[in-house]
Amino acid sequence: MTGKKKMVEAKNLTCAYNGHTAIENVNIDVFRGEFIAIMGPNGSGKTTLLRAIAGMIKPVRGEVRVYGSVSYMPQKEHVNASIPIRVWDVVSMSILARNKKFILSFSLSKEEKKAVEEALNAVNMLELKDFPFTSLSGGQQQRVMLARALATKPDVLLLDEPFNGVDLPTQEKIISLLSKLSEKGITVITVVHNVSPLIHSISRIALLNKNLIAYGKPEDVLTPENTLKAYGVSIPVSVCEEGYLHPLFGDIHG
Ligand SMILES: Nc1ncnc2c1ncn2[C@@H]1O[C@H](COP(=O)(O)OP(=O)(O)OP(=O)(O)O)[C@@H](O)[C@H]1O
Ligand SMILES: [Mg+2]
Repeated sequence: MTGKKKMVEAKNLTCAYNGHTAIENVNIDVFRGEFIAIMGPNGSGKTTLLRAIAGMIKPVRGEVRVYGSVSYMPQKEHVNASIPIRVWDVVSMSILARNKKFILSFSLSKEEKKAVEEALNAVNMLELKDFPFTSLSGGQQQRVMLARALATKPDVLLLDEPFNGVDLPTQEKIISLLSKLSEKGITVITVVHNVSPLIHSISRIALLNKNLIAYGKPEDVLTPENTLKAYGVSIPVSVCEEGYLHPLFGDIHG
């Protein structure tokens, strides 16, 4: 359900690290229940934009507003391998952080435990809930981090490359889950390099290269002119029997 209610609003958003500008004059609106993708080359400011929306970095100019609760799944989590922590507790931590509690999972309420269970189930990780987090594979850890972001049932879900290293069946399951969440009114903003698997689930793409190159419907954004501006090369198309396969788009063009 794409409502008219604005959930995220960035106006002339400019962020920098030690005087080095990472994103500049970004203007973006995201509505309730929208599912959008942020794309762009390495170093183009995608993570910076998400972190600014999450309120983790302060703009040097402009502003960003979020009208609701946010949860953020970072690009990669470095967990100290010497900390023995179970999968269940990694996911519980997001709820405990929201509640500003420091004690681990035994202090979750019945509903909160259900939320953790649902989140782990959504990413196919419930069976491994008692495993030490650090004993998991990279893709499994990624799935647990996604569950952690889901567990607080935020109004706005920010995901930074959530499919990195995730196997295809789980990726499909997660995409269908994110679509369902957006239909329920949750706003989903995800950074991806390969948009093909979600091209039919998203309403808009933000193409970034420090500046916002384009923001709109996939077919309007992923033009040769825009991909050239963003990536410095026009994205090649591969030819197959049925027509042309756009590597970012995933669609067959006749
Ligand atoms: N903590 C930091 N300190 C200093 N510079 C940073 C920091 N984080 C990012 N940058 C710089 O800001 C720019 C944007 O980085 P950002 O991580 O937002 O890019 P990205 O689009 O997410 O890239 P990737 O696709 O590699 O994840 C880059 O030039 C990067 O070097
Ligand atoms: Mg990044």
